[in-house]
Amino acid sequence: MATTISLPLLLIFLSTFPSVSYSQYPPIIAGNWKLLQSSIGISAMHMQVLPGDKLLAFDRTDFGPSNISLPAGHCRQDPSDLALPTDCTAHSILLDLPSLSLRPLSILTDTWCSSGSLLPNSSFFQSGGFNDGDHTIRLFTSDSDWSETSAYLSARRWYSTNQLLPDGRVIIIGGRRQFNYEFFPKDHIRPLTSFPFLDETRDGDAENNLYPFVHLLPDGTLFVFANTRAVLLDLSHNGYPLRHLPAIPDAVPRNYPSSGSSVLLPLRPPSHSPEILICGGAPRGSFQAALNGTFYPAARTCGRIYPLDQNPTWAMEDMPTARVMGDMVVLPTGDVLLVNGAAAGTAGWELARDPVTVPVLYNPNKPAGNRFGLMNRSPIPRLYHSSAVLDTYGRVLVGGSNPHVCYNFTNVMFPTELSLEAFHPPYLSASLDGLRPEVVAVWAGERGGGAGEVPATVVGYGEEMGVRFTVKERKVGGEVVEVVVVVPAFGTHSFGMNQRVVVLEGGRDEQVAPYVYELMVKAPPSPEVAPPGYYMMFVVHAGVPGRGLWVKIQRRDVVT
Ligand SMILES: *[C@@H]1O[C@H](CO)[C@@H](O)[C@H](O)[C@H]1NC(C)=O
Ligand SMILES: *[C@@H]1O[C@H](CO)[C@@H](O)[C@H](O)[C@H]1NC(C)=O
Ligand SMILES: *[C@@H]1O[C@H](CO)[C@@H](O)[C@H](O)[C@H]1NC(C)=O
Ligand SMILES: *[C@@H]1O[C@H](CO)[C@@H](O)[C@H](O)[C@H]1NC(C)=O
Repeated sequence: MATTISLPLLLIFLSTFPSVSYSQYPPIIAGNWKLLQSSIGISAMHMQVLPGDKLLAFDRTDFGPSNISLPAGHCRQDPSDLALPTDCTAHSILLDLPSLSLRPLSILTDTWCSSGSLLPNSSFFQSGGFNDGDHTIRLFTSDSDWSETSAYLSARRWYSTNQLLPDGRVIIIGGRRQFNYEFFPKDHIRPLTSFPFLDETRDGDAENNLYPFVHLLPDGTLFVFANTRAVLLDLSHNGYPLRHLPAIPDAVPRNYPSSGSSVLLPLRPPSHSPEILICGGAPRGSFQAALNGTFYPAARTCGRIYPLDQNPTWAMEDMPTARVMGDMVVLPTGDVLLVNGAAAGTAGWELARDPVTVPVLYNPNKPAGNRFGLMNRSPIPRLYHSSAVLDTYGRVLVGGSNPHVCYNFTNVMFPTELSLEAFHPPYLSASLDGLRPEVVAVWAGERGGGAGEVPATVVGYGEEMGVRFTVKERKVGGEVVEVVVVVPAFGTHSFGMNQRVVVLEGGRDEQVAPYVYELMVKAPPSPEVAPPGYYMMFVVHAGVPGRGLWVKIQRRDVVT
């Protein structure tokens, strides 16, 4: 595993792939940036959109005063915070997206480099972190504050990955020097399961396999990618046999600190055949070289694979620019936005150069060589500890960036970022408003949610749901209207945990009044295709999504 790239080879890379050059690509400049908040008081290292259109964000507790105070009298004693043992500032906030009103929240133990998942009952589950927080779990329920349980986890979870499972549990995989996984709620019979793949894929000098990419596949197995390799993990048989997929052909590491990004492309009926896309990363040796002040060009490649094929193979392609620490967000249209990151160096303190402020939009359905479009540049570089997530407006919320141990606003190359931006994909252009559908009604079995849950339309697996929408300029054609459900992902360290877009099976829409249309769609067929819980549902007409609304997909056989 521990091959390093020779210096002559690197010089060839340097001359063939100049960093941040887009010259051979058509200048399709589109999309817009909006500064939502010049400061949310913290740096959005971790972000989660919650049902009810709130953004939950947090950074870490042990690196000095943030720029937002806790309510009076709520100081925190933190002996492990050498910068500030008595801290009266917040390190987590809740932002109401429609009104942009902001509330500081209290986290007691350190959430640095942690993992999270929205639970089926709309509580947000967060696991691990660093130091006093590395065995802690935390729950956040709609309008309250964090509640923490320390010493819950069976192993230290720092740089681990979560995935919500079909039965409503969460698997927590890996973490620094943790070659194992566990579950929430805890499995008392088997509190910890060994997973040697994470030991085998660990590079001695740089790891390159932290925050493994995990995707739940529609057959119930988990696709797990670490460093350059992928396996299928079958939990129904305690993980055995482990099916090995081919390694990514260019042998470039893709996980922290050589952070690339990965998404499950939209699952489409009737087959829901899963396809994974992995983009960016940093060549082996980049981390050590960056520690020594040499910043190697990042990877330019993406790989795509159908992991459930009989003989899966990777299809490789080039991005318009090299990128490490990019964030990939699947949009309601099925296109993938790749945003943030740098063209040289790696993740880690002070270890990246050449910020890539131009997002690219990837259309997976176009022919290879024709899939990338360049988007307008953000004025703000976002490097290590930045994140990006989709909201119901169809925007991508982009925040964070802090390559420093503390909050450092001056005298540094890339100051700690407290701002929150929204990237508006081209489909949000006002010139497309005539095509934009507006959902006026959704009906299914029931409305509701249990005690403490956020109200949403509730639908069972495979059940029919009616959708009524208005649109001013209805385009004709069979495939022109699509209804999709999107899991709100937990974004951190270049990976959107749980991110998932499922296209619903549906009939043709019918006009029921001037400008008003109706169609029936079916909820996803199984919890393997779409694990239970809250989804943002979008109607997409002629490539233009309307405002999303919250639906809850529920098992009828068990209470989750
Ligand atoms: C901190 O917040 C104040 C307003 O409360 C603002 O003026 C200042 O610019 C913020 N600092 C940073 C670095 O964003
Ligand atoms: C980094 O510098 C150290 C000390 O000079 C040296 O031993 C090491 O080989 C260097 N590593 C790389 C990857 O350049
Ligand atoms: C960041 O700020 C801390 C605390 O003020 C300081 O000790 C540290 O040297 C600064 N880091 C950099 C890279 O300037
Ligand atoms: C949601 O489920 C989790 C796990 O079972 C539980 O700990 C939490 O209290 C639940 N939240 C609500 C609002 O009931």
